[in-house]
Amino acid sequence: MAKEKTVFFCTDCGNEVLRWQGQCPACGAWNTIVEKPAAAKSKAPKSASGRRDSGIGVPRARRISDVETTAELRFETGMSELDRVLGGGAVKGSLVLVGGAPGIGKSTLMLQICDNLCRFANVLYVSGEESERQIKLRAERLRVRGEGLYLLAETNLENILEATEELKPDILIVDSIQTLYNGDLTTSPGSVGQVKDCTLALMNLAKGMGITVFVIGHVNKEGSIAGPKVLEHMVDCVLYFEGEQHTTYRILRAAKNRFGATNEIGVFEMADTGLAEVPNPSEMLLEGRPTDTPGTCVTCAMEGVRPILAEVQALLTPSSFNMPRRMVSGVDFNRTMLLLAVLEKRGGLLVNSCDAYVNVVGGLALDEPAVDLAIVIALASSFRDKPVPGDLAAIGEVGLTGELRSVNNLNQRLSEIHRLGFTKCIVPARCGKAIVPDGLQLIKVRNIREALAAIV
Ligand code: TYD
Ligand code: MG
Repeated sequence: MAKEKTVFFCTDCGNEVLRWQGQCPACGAWNTIVEKPAAAKSKAPKSASGRRDSGIGVPRARRISDVETTAELRFETGMSELDRVLGGGAVKGSLVLVGGAPGIGKSTLMLQICDNLCRFANVLYVSGEESERQIKLRAERLRVRGEGLYLLAETNLENILEATEELKPDILIVDSIQTLYNGDLTTSPGSVGQVKDCTLALMNLAKGMGITVFVIGHVNKEGSIAGPKVLEHMVDCVLYFEGEQHTTYRILRAAKNRFGATNEIGVFEMADTGLAEVPNPSEMLLEGRPTDTPGTCVTCAMEGVRPILAEVQALLTPSSFNMPRRMVSGVDFNRTMLLLAVLEKRGGLLVNSCDAYVNVVGGLALDEPAVDLAIVIALASSFRDKPVPGDLAAIGEVGLTGELRSVNNLNQRLSEIHRLGFTKCIVPARCGKAIVPDGLQLIKVRNIREALAAIV
């Protein structure tokens, strides 16, 4: 009897429990208990190819050379920054998850691309958060004409699937996955079980009917529970929309992409009439840069195939604690600690007793070693209270002995630095044969001591 009622199980160890609970009593894991539909209602899961596993006949493995392929069909969304992040446009029959904090602009972005999409395709926009009237008002404000745009304010998964099967749209947009629910489950919308179940159903829809599905997912404060994180492994693409609440710039980043590279970023600006693309992020990021203040240095990072200039700022102040404070934003914390140690030991600056703060302007996250030198120079400039020349940029990876190591894509970085009006660039001495643009002077240094000597 008790067995029949059991509809909850642990995704880690498979242990079945009678009701939902935070921790699995068997394996001790947290947040792994999910609900499964009662046996009578459970359907045979569809495989990724859209075929229902009927249980009749044995599934046969196929030789890879016997599998027919057609080139993946891509279409442009009309926003080149979004297309870039998707790897050159959206793929037909794929499921794209767009995650981000509430209010960052996910619904705005999705509604805006409808303007272009519905010129050549039928788009169904399902919203569980806003009424059809609200969406229409927003669409008018965003100047989305939308001949082939259909709206549906619905949260019941069954109804959404039915509406989709009837309309047969080419593109389905779901805003947001946390509001959807499957009536077969007893948990509330937004719980891990519901979110996973609804995503799986949408995935089957995408693969089965060849519909491109965009799913919006809110990242909550903790960033994990029932947010896009628990869905990352199920979907084809995961995009994160990031930005600071108080700035108007938004960065779209691919965390996973089954059809392209993941290191591309798209840059947008939120304006009165919606999101505007920023085709020239370097200019935007350097806007209003102080040129005669100590503690800032410009570097060039590669975001995918695109070089982007970024300003690294540092502030060193004498510490009034035994343990100096260290705060880092936009670069790796441990990497910065390492650079502070190298600066003390190999650069000869007594920075260990200082509070250190490092920040990358514009909310950019730099994870490349090529920005090491700019961090070191910004720190040294703040320590000595001497500004770095405003027309100077720095590129290079710093080793533990204080030596500078070469970086990749140097020519592209130099041409971007030159394009934005810089006249000097510090680079590692061993950087191979660089193509130096006219009017850009290369300062080749072997270690950080030489680099620090070059900036004063
Ligand atoms: P929205 O797309 O609703 O966010 P999300 O779906 O990610 O929760 O965007 C909401 C914010 O965007 C809101 O704070 C106002 C701002 N916004 C503009 O500044 N201009 C606009 O044209 C629109 C539509 C929104
Ligand atoms: Mg929204």
